[in-house]
Amino acid sequence: MTLLYEGKAKQLFMTDDDKVLRLVYKNDATAFNGEKHDVLQGKGELNNAISVLFFEVLEAEGVQTHFIKKISDTEQLVRPTRIIPIEVVVRNITAGSLARRLGWEEGKSLPEPIVEWYYKDDALGDPLVNDDHIAALGVAKTEELEEMRMRALHVNKILLDLCHKANLLLVDFKLEFGVLEDGTLLLADEVSPDTCRFWDAKTKEKLDKDIYRYGLGSLQAGYENILSRIGGVVHD
Ligand code: CDP
Repeated sequence: MTLLYEGKAKQLFMTDDDKVLRLVYKNDATAFNGEKHDVLQGKGELNNAISVLFFEVLEAEGVQTHFIKKISDTEQLVRPTRIIPIEVVVRNITAGSLARRLGWEEGKSLPEPIVEWYYKDDALGDPLVNDDHIAALGVAKTEELEEMRMRALHVNKILLDLCHKANLLLVDFKLEFGVLEDGTLLLADEVSPDTCRFWDAKTKEKLDKDIYRYGLGSLQAGYENILSRIGGVVHD
């Protein structure tokens, strides 16, 4: 089957139905814009299982997503979209680039969630941009940005609730949106510990990709911990 796209952690294949694509989660882990790279056994199936569970919950709560169904431990079917090259980051607690940029201590609760836009461009290192930059780049319309902001905050509410029940802190996360031919906006890409920061609510232990970024232990152990807390399984 034709490979449409290969990213750092996933591959996207065509199927014989032009309304359906096959998304394959790889075992590759990368950090710092690809400077660090390893293959970690079991990572693909953990991320597939976690992302499937989040997409199912989001769909049940009325969020329109590209997700169709899980077809194997490492694969799911999704709808083809034109990806808007803007990464939407939502933050509840200070960490990562926000803490670095503003000189803030990590782990402080924000009074209100912060929504940020990053322009998806590996060569530029995905720079932080504002609405005016996006208008000048011509990559998303004002109405699309407003819609993406509302959807991202809705996703945040749903995930915060799920995490609360699982004794997890949802520190921050990144979303990507895609557009169907008729203009419908869908949540696309993935929702997994590769793209979200999750901490243990009590100990503040990091259970997400920061384990790999900063060499804190076993990434798979962290991801398994998240999966079991949110009630998911690797093998159906
Ligand atoms: O990860 P880093 O500290 O460089 O960046 P960040 O801006 O603090 O990341 C905010 C959130 O977005 C984290 O949950 C990252 O895992 C996620 N992110 C992502 O999934 N992909 C990117 N290219 C950048 C950030």
